[in-house]
Amino acid sequence: MREITTLNTGWTFAAGFDPTHIHASMAGESVTLPHNAVDLPMSYFDERAYQRPFTYQREIRWSPAWEGKCVRLRFDAAMADTTVWINGVETCHHRDGYTPFTVDLSDAFVDGKLLVTLRVDGAENPEIPPFGGRIDYLTYAGIYRDVWLEVLPARHITSVKIETPDVLAATKTVIAKVATSEAGPVEAQITDAQGREIAHSSGEGDIRFEGLTDITLWSTQTPALYTLTLTLPDSGDRLTQRFGFREAQFTPEGFFLNGERVILRGLNRHQSFPYSGYAQGKRSQERDAEILRFDLGCNIVRTSHYPQSPYFLDRCDEIGLMVFEEIPGWQHIGGPVWQDESLRNVERMIRRDWNHPSIIIWGVRINESPDDDAFYTRTNALARDLDPTRQTGGVRCIPDSRLLEDVYTMNDFILGDFEMPFSNRPRTALRDQQEVTGLPERVPYMVTEYNGHMFPTKASDPEHRQHEHVIRHLEVLNAAHDPASGLAGCIGWCMFDYNTHKDFGAGDRI
Ligand code: GAL
Repeated sequence: MREITTLNTGWTFAAGFDPTHIHASMAGESVTLPHNAVDLPMSYFDERAYQRPFTYQREIRWSPAWEGKCVRLRFDAAMADTTVWINGVETCHHRDGYTPFTVDLSDAFVDGKLLVTLRVDGAENPEIPPFGGRIDYLTYAGIYRDVWLEVLPARHITSVKIETPDVLAATKTVIAKVATSEAGPVEAQITDAQGREIAHSSGEGDIRFEGLTDITLWSTQTPALYTLTLTLPDSGDRLTQRFGFREAQFTPEGFFLNGERVILRGLNRHQSFPYSGYAQGKRSQERDAEILRFDLGCNIVRTSHYPQSPYFLDRCDEIGLMVFEEIPGWQHIGGPVWQDESLRNVERMIRRDWNHPSIIIWGVRINESPDDDAFYTRTNALARDLDPTRQTGGVRCIPDSRLLEDVYTMNDFILGDFEMPFSNRPRTALRDQQEVTGLPERVPYMVTEYNGHMFPTKASDPEHRQHEHVIRHLEVLNAAHDPASGLAGCIGWCMFDYNTHKDFGAGDRI
């Protein structure tokens, strides 16, 4: 059996980085993860406070139960540029603040223990997305998600991608694409939400289940989930993975979930919280999904502008909240090193999240960046290669930009324009898609941001201002529900206020 346990306690933390500390235990503050390197006030702070290196350290003691096993640490995320040393030896360099990384400890124990040291650099390194230009959000430094100790049999499952190719057919198929550390047989079982076995199979590589009946499709109203359990009979390794049966299709006539037209109605979400930045645990992540789905009546969220917490996505699966997930970035495209890192962002996002039924589209363009056909041809090709089961989008704000994605995803802020000094356009909620795309024919089209900063409103503003803000949301929602528009739907800016750099927001870092 594999054992996966959190390793969130027992860490020592210090501001700054002293290279001598990679070899020996340092003095510092005792902290628990998820951890925010620098807590900030609610407003009017200097965001440079966390844009520097920090050190995290922990000793790990050997257990005889680990003999002959693969022992490793998984960090669900650390912002922004992380180097890991085991007993002073550099073993990992992860330049992506939003995806997990793993370090193997198996052969590193000396006299029954080892020392893990992390340099977590919160600087806005211009070679790492989303940095290099200005970004309208903050990227709080620290090991801000969970850390896991994984103890696996020597022969173990390394990944699984579950595909459900024919969900609208009378009988269904599941293909589990399984990778293992060493070749050999794999047993597989599918169970429903009550734990009843639906099917079992075995094989190596691609394991198929055919002729499945009585399957409940995953939808916003019935977010039915199933579990695939993989077992390696020789080593005893076992992995469970949830998934769902659903078909999500963007067409020029709108978006269809399981063959039925659904108008997408959503909001963007940043993963930040006041004071604690990115460092919030499971329950806060889940609660945000619940607020979007149940309090605000959304059926989709866009994880602007990066991959978000696995707990948030798990909850989206459970409550039927669809997700547009995208790579890190904001308006700026860097040079070749930066672009190669962005390609790795695409791969890490898709490999981490390809089994979530809630995710219906991958965003593979830097939010609101200019056209770059060479770069975006690569991001799209990679996404389609890794996951041919989902369409791609790429969020833009520039009309007539090149459509290299499957879905033209546009930030349409036209409703703010009518009060501009030289605008002669009457009050308009949304533009017709062909005015935006400049294309001779209709294409799959979705609005990924509207309103927000075009009529900035705070909870403390007078009632007439809040009223106007609400009316504007309703006007856009109304336009999006025009059956003749062919629009897939619209995702508003933004679920809540958030802290940002001095160049943006209301001048108070909000
Ligand atoms: C949009 C951008 C968002 C945010 C918003 C202003 O153009 O995509 O990330 O910056 O403007 O609040």
